[in-house]
Amino acid sequence: MNQTLRYGIIGTGQRGRAHLARLLELQPAVRIAALCDPVPEALDAAADLCREHQPARYDRYERLVADANVDAVVVASPNHLHRDHAVGAFAQGKHVLCEKPLATSVADAQAILDASVQAGRILCPGHELRFARPYLELKAALPRIGRICQVTHHEYRRDWSPLSWVYRDPGTGRSLNWRMSQKASGGTILEKSLHFVDLFHLLLGANPARVALAGGIGFYRDGRETWDQLTISLVYADGVTATHSLCMFHQPAESTLRIFGEKGVFVVEGHSKVSHYDYGRPATVIYDAGVGENSLAYQHLGDTEMHEAFAAAVQGRKPLPILPRIGVEAVATCLRS
Ligand SMILES: NC(=O)c1ccc[n+]([C@@H]2O[C@H](COP(=O)([O-])OP(=O)(O)OC[C@H]3O[C@@H](n4cnc5c(N)ncnc54)[C@H](O)[C@@H]3O)[C@@H](O)[C@H]2O)c1
Repeated sequence: MNQTLRYGIIGTGQRGRAHLARLLELQPAVRIAALCDPVPEALDAAADLCREHQPARYDRYERLVADANVDAVVVASPNHLHRDHAVGAFAQGKHVLCEKPLATSVADAQAILDASVQAGRILCPGHELRFARPYLELKAALPRIGRICQVTHHEYRRDWSPLSWVYRDPGTGRSLNWRMSQKASGGTILEKSLHFVDLFHLLLGANPARVALAGGIGFYRDGRETWDQLTISLVYADGVTATHSLCMFHQPAESTLRIFGEKGVFVVEGHSKVSHYDYGRPATVIYDAGVGENSLAYQHLGDTEMHEAFAAAVQGRKPLPILPRIGVEAVATCLRS
């Protein structure tokens, strides 16, 4: 980066602070100009991380997006707020990196995309796995297995973070961890599985022709509204299928992606190690990021590269390597079944 970009972050919870940490690694090209969160403790925790930047502190997003010292906004608030926050930022001429899912409905996601086009500003959907080295290495190596015939992915993991913001439903008056609220999160399919639906899009280069989704709450008995398990099946125009299964009550965490081709298979374990099998021959590891589930690198795979690409696009140095509409398409695919 060759000029200083001034950032505002809306939502300074766990993910907002992770963005902040990645941005601070890109200093001196970055300045944290403003932070916004209605919860004072969340704002304090973020402000502590970037004290020397002396960011302005706001409890309402309208004030952050109107701040003339902010060039680019990172939206890291709960999902149901993304539309207001991103559209509000575009209306003030800011560029936006918006966390996934872009929104909790296709109409809201499309409204964000439309607002970016109307404002002539960059929209980067926060799909960091598209920037993660293991998946880019895998994508480049795909021709080695010939025509792709089938894709499978499973993720077994622990429950949602208990530290997340508590959403109060204005209709029912009920308070819930926002990820357990259907209204605030848009459901587990959007909050979690969208990452893999979008990864299938990256690897297969197409959106599916048909989608089927099954899920439920089989394990937890705590009044949550969002599923703790699901399977989504996608069928592509050429008959290729992709499936993703999620289980949210398993330790240790496990994530395995398999791409079966005419001439061999790729396996990606833990978002890190990419192996290639010729049918009937031993595996060779083609890339290993060497990160374990508990390492910081694992949790933020692709984030640094995503921020570098976003900044380059904002500064007109390089076009964004992903199309903003993939954010809308991922929401649409997840909600299509
Ligand atoms: N890409 C990824 O891998 C990834 C990982 C985790 C979370 N996320 C996304 O990041 C977003 C935030 O998730 P999180 O884990 O940080 O949740 P969180 O609950 O830890 O933080 C959310 C923050 O938003 C704040 N907030 C609530 N209402 C607000 C408002 N009106 N204006 C501004 N801030 C408000 C809360 O006070 C809280 O501090 C979600 O969209 C989530 O899907 C993405």
